[in-house]
Amino acid sequence: MAGVRQEKYHDDFVKSGIEGFDDLFTRKGIPVGLPRGSVVLLSGSCGAGKSIFSAQFLYKGIINCREPGLYVSVDETTDNLWKVIYMFNWAKEHPDALRRKGLLHNMQMIGSRTHSRKDTQVNYETYLRKLEFAEFLKKLKQIVATYKIKRLVIDSSSQLSMHFKTELERRSGLIRLINLLKRLDCTSIFTSEIFERGPITYSRLGMEEFLADGVIVLRHTEARTGLRRHILVKKMRGLRHDEDFHPFVIDEEEGVRIFPQEKVF
Ligand SMILES: Nc1ncnc2c1ncn2[C@@H]1O[C@H](COP(=O)(O)OP(=O)(O)OP(=O)(O)O)[C@@H](O)[C@H]1O
Ligand SMILES: [Mg+2]
Repeated sequence: MAGVRQEKYHDDFVKSGIEGFDDLFTRKGIPVGLPRGSVVLLSGSCGAGKSIFSAQFLYKGIINCREPGLYVSVDETTDNLWKVIYMFNWAKEHPDALRRKGLLHNMQMIGSRTHSRKDTQVNYETYLRKLEFAEFLKKLKQIVATYKIKRLVIDSSSQLSMHFKTELERRSGLIRLINLLKRLDCTSIFTSEIFERGPITYSRLGMEEFLADGVIVLRHTEARTGLRRHILVKKMRGLRHDEDFHPFVIDEEEGVRIFPQEKVF
């Protein structure tokens, strides 16, 4: 089966809907976009633009390509997708309208509350139990198959991992999740927060970047003249990709826009 998947990589690509982004991936010198079916880690510090980028990828896929999308929000009880995109000029159709058309599907991942009986205080930490997580993975798989989901976003995997009780559960949970994403017939982006200081990793556990097919890094640095945003494709299995940092903006009307011709040194 691995061979089949590899072939799919070379033939089929996804239009991200993010200006300048598809130019970062080329085949025989021609910009092609993300390989269809890939599992991509979108990594960045707080405020780097991960939620807007991933929501734009999902929403534009629906409105430009009619590709059904699944948005998995973690710890958000309200309509996080709409909160993220409603101000951009391409966000014309409300998620509810897209849901009614069967083009958008939502899952909310919230850990169950555990109460500490010994204390009089209620312990509001949320822990995922093994069974709940298995149930979540099963449902995810079902939704993707039933609604023929073509784009999937999980925002964020770091928040999700915080719901596991132990480090071991956290690691094994994320491994199971990423391995499942790889088997699904859709292109997935999962976000992860990183710290600006400390050892260089692209995810909270430092292993997601090895498991994902691709890693996109959004940098958000303080220059003397203010905040600067840069994007880097750190890896993309099976495809030639750009290797420079490029500036990007979050435009008030257009959302994320990348400048592939400009480089940052
Ligand atoms: N309408 C807008 N127009 C332009 N820039 C915006 C707009 N809305 C938000 N931003 C910028 O985007 C940033 C937030 O982007 P986003 O929520 O995607 O970041 P994030 O990487 O998901 O952050 P976190 O790790 O905190 O979830 C804001 O700090 C702001 O700089
Ligand atoms: Mg976010």
